[in-house]
Amino acid sequence: MREHLNIAIDGPSGAGKSTLAKAVASALQIRYLDTGSMYRAMALFAIRRGVSVSDEAGLKTILDDADIRVRYDERGQRVLIGEEDVTDILRTQELAMGASTVSAHPCVREKLAELQREVGRNYDVVMDGRDITTNVLPNTKHKFFVTASPEIRAERRLKELRARGSMQDTYEQVLADIKLRDHNDSTRAYMPLRQTEDAMRIDTSEMTTDEALAVLLRAVAEKQDR
Ligand code: DC
Repeated sequence: MREHLNIAIDGPSGAGKSTLAKAVASALQIRYLDTGSMYRAMALFAIRRGVSVSDEAGLKTILDDADIRVRYDERGQRVLIGEEDVTDILRTQELAMGASTVSAHPCVREKLAELQREVGRNYDVVMDGRDITTNVLPNTKHKFFVTASPEIRAERRLKELRARGSMQDTYEQVLADIKLRDHNDSTRAYMPLRQTEDAMRIDTSEMTTDEALAVLLRAVAEKQDR
């Protein structure tokens, strides 16, 4: 059986990883796995169970019940808790922050990383997250670190929030949230966000998605040929 094509993308919040990863998936006709949505679902599950996202002991007691699943349909990736499709309620600031906190716990990361590896073993897939190049798919030759300045990321996130009809967040608030999450994600003790030596860095601050896509696809094609 041939090995599946696994493309790993890491980077900070709002750098354009998911837009780029979706474009890659569509160009190559492969799956896209948004791993952040799985951490968001885990945060939602904990909140519903009345367990704080920072309570490691409490999280351990509910972990076996946290039946987080990933499915694909004509809309793309769906995230389920048991049989309930929660995809459309995950993209709030509260769950973004909850996911950042809940993801610092090794027990949570181990569980979700294993589910993600399983997708990589079974499908051609592009995944984005914070520990894909370092922990989930450390052996793939297709590694990318996608980033942009915090200010540009805040502007993009604000535009996205406005487009979804959310008017209460200000630029300053969004920028502060991004900086706080960057800090959390890159300073946590276990599997922090970092760029590996073998990952190609793509700074999207001054790039369109099409330009970033072209850079990434060229790099993948070059390595595939080898
Ligand atoms: O990519 P996102 O904004 O949906 O991610 C939400 C949070 O989840 C982010 O702040 C860090 C965490 N996360 C992680 O630790 N590891 C991943 N592979 C993906 C997300």
